[in-house]
Amino acid sequence: MTDSASTLPAPTQLDPLRISEDFPILASGPNTGERLAFLDSAASAMKPRQVIDSIVATYEGGYANVHRGVYHHAATATRHFEGAREKVRSFINATTPREVIFTRGTTEAINLVANSWGRTNLGPGDIVVTTELEHHSNLVPWQQVCAATGAELRFIPVDDTGVLVLDDLDALAEGGTLKLVTVVHVSNSLGTHAPLDLIVPWAKSHGALVMVDGAQSVPHRPVDVQALGIDFLAFSAHKLMGPSGVGALWGREELLAAMPPWQFGGEMIRRVEYSGATFNDLPWKFEAGTPAIAEVIGFGAALDYIESIGGIAAIAAHEQAMTAYGYELLAAIPGLHLLGPGPGEDRGGVLSFTMDGTHPHDVATLLDARDVNIRAGHHCTQPLMKRLGVHATARASVYAYTTREDLDRLADGLGEVRRVFGLA
Ligand SMILES: Cc1ncc(COP(=O)(O)O)c(C=O)c1O
Repeated sequence: MTDSASTLPAPTQLDPLRISEDFPILASGPNTGERLAFLDSAASAMKPRQVIDSIVATYEGGYANVHRGVYHHAATATRHFEGAREKVRSFINATTPREVIFTRGTTEAINLVANSWGRTNLGPGDIVVTTELEHHSNLVPWQQVCAATGAELRFIPVDDTGVLVLDDLDALAEGGTLKLVTVVHVSNSLGTHAPLDLIVPWAKSHGALVMVDGAQSVPHRPVDVQALGIDFLAFSAHKLMGPSGVGALWGREELLAAMPPWQFGGEMIRRVEYSGATFNDLPWKFEAGTPAIAEVIGFGAALDYIESIGGIAAIAAHEQAMTAYGYELLAAIPGLHLLGPGPGEDRGGVLSFTMDGTHPHDVATLLDARDVNIRAGHHCTQPLMKRLGVHATARASVYAYTTREDLDRLADGLGEVRRVFGLA
């Protein structure tokens, strides 16, 4: 299940119903008053009371701008803000908090690397390799930077089930200098897991750096940046039960230290003259302006919460069980086609499907009437949808609070969809 599983203690079993009690929004759905069967955590996870309370506590009892004031609240806010950085460091096993940059989320973290590292280090004859699975966030920034620098963007292909085809990796590095391999760790559209244990050594054998889009892996499975041997990792707090508007870039210290800032202003400077400026140390060099103070502190609270319910390995084990159960239920529905890797493969907790005679939006709308929430659309992966020959899919995704009953209600609701469309 994990890329570094051998070092981990055996996961404890989660109790999703007990955990759900921490999530006020799950108690009753807006349409039926029944428990909300929330199956769209891949888009954004719900928030436990512990995270909500942390944000309220910051605003009510410890709020001020950080890194500036000398008074009590300013010192408290700064201590909690930098404390959250240490929690992020520990969660991904980075060597130092200087390697953890707070951003608005995965998208901004990738844009930081593309604009800072990319525009400094890429040029004609250079190659950036990504995959056909990517979210637009790990595709469009590289299209833009490659267009601006003259570097070439190439793709690791997927097969018809959306699994990466690694047979001819070397061909992707031919005729130029491979500088960066940037891959989604777990696909948000299909659940495909990128085998970093194969991709990273290959990239390194060409002297390339590796960036990982961890938006769908960091919230759901143990991610150890040192064990993976990667160079950059991007992820978002809102997908791991933390607040929206905040996330992190992790990068190896020597790389970050050599990279220029990409946004300029307050906080990121050391000294400013009318004639020019020098820049702050890591990590603040990359954090221009007032940060999302309460949200960063809430990000730390979300990581504490994950620990308190049994840790990320326990969440991964629970999701694996829920995904296998959901896969079995959906596979038994006539006319329903599951996309992505099979249930026994190393995959994320995302069940993407189409149903003959229905549009995914209709499916999601009918399910909503029963307070079963799933996502429908292209999931910000338009090229992947085209590659797989679909316009859109319906997608159910699981998390720590997902129960078997949530998935039963999904399957029952899909039965009703078939009846409404005259398919059953
Ligand atoms: C795989 C993947 N990458 C990147 C993103 C972008 O994350 P954010 O919108 O939080 O920046 C998402 C969000 O859905 C995602 O699933």
